[in-house]
Amino acid sequence: MMKLTGENKERLNFYIDIIEKKLASYNNFDEENFPQKNLADAMNYSLSAGGKRVRPVLMLEFCRLCGGDFQKALSPAAAMEMIHTFSLIHDDLPCMDDDDFRRGKPSCHKKFGEAIALLAGDALENLAFEVIADCELPDRVKINLIRELSNAVGINGMIGGQVIDIENEGKGISEDLLYKMHSCKTGALIKAACRMGCIAADADGKKLLNAGAFAEKIGLAFQIIDDILNVAGDEKVLGKPVGSDIKHGKTTFVTIYGLEKSMQMAETLTNEAISILKEFDENEFIVDFTKNLLLRKK
Ligand code: IPE
Ligand code: IPE
Ligand code: MG
Ligand code: MG
Repeated sequence: MMKLTGENKERLNFYIDIIEKKLASYNNFDEENFPQKNLADAMNYSLSAGGKRVRPVLMLEFCRLCGGDFQKALSPAAAMEMIHTFSLIHDDLPCMDDDDFRRGKPSCHKKFGEAIALLAGDALENLAFEVIADCELPDRVKINLIRELSNAVGINGMIGGQVIDIENEGKGISEDLLYKMHSCKTGALIKAACRMGCIAADADGKKLLNAGAFAEKIGLAFQIIDDILNVAGDEKVLGKPVGSDIKHGKTTFVTIYGLEKSMQMAETLTNEAISILKEFDENEFIVDFTKNLLLRKK
């Protein structure tokens, strides 16, 4: 997805490679002791279906930007991608957005049925916290990571945002509630990813605040672009249905502001986010990565 060049491209490819390997390492299902291989297959199907890995990349990079060893943030980064994947599996269910395609393949429930998809999402969510609890960071750091992540997933974060989204289908919502919905359903996990990178590096409060402020901007921009691609994207490239927001009567940035203004808003947010990155040394990669998030086609 990313058109980075030179060293930045190498860094991105390296991060994605180690994240993919780490995620694959959890596909170690013990068939002898638990014959219901279907569940493990469903978890692995969605986890390995080819997401962009934006959140784990952000986590590794913020760890590095704070002077930490990014290898130590790798397990929490994998945990973040498990949570994100769980959110997507549930988001596509018939009782939610009822979408049949995700990451270029049939959605988890299309392939495995609704019950297994629901349970695969639940199991991925739990596995994420187990992975952090078992990682090699000090206990104090692990507790802070778990607190950050559980808060971002729950009622004040992604799940809360999904409730605003679902309960307001076909209703039309105010601008304030639209901002709140996007900040919760998408922004919260992106913010947690950036902050958890800092936490894994044992960074000070100022770095955490700056990472959080940066993430709030790109989190909102990320969902605005998602709204734009749902109208103007190419389904084959995007790997998920185009036009589904309109079909379900969702209020989005595009329905309130139109395509052009929405894009301008995403650009402004991206520029504001980049200006916060001045607070971090060696920021060439993250600046380039952030710019490219705006240009994404999937
Ligand atoms: C899609 O997220 C859902 C949103 C929160 C906007 P991504 O665009 O990161 O999806 P994948 O992980 O690449 O499939
Ligand atoms: C994404 O919302 C938010 C979560 C999955 C938590 P959308 O419903 O807008 O995302 P896509 O477009 O289906 O990926
Ligand atoms: Mg949704
Ligand atoms: Mg959806």
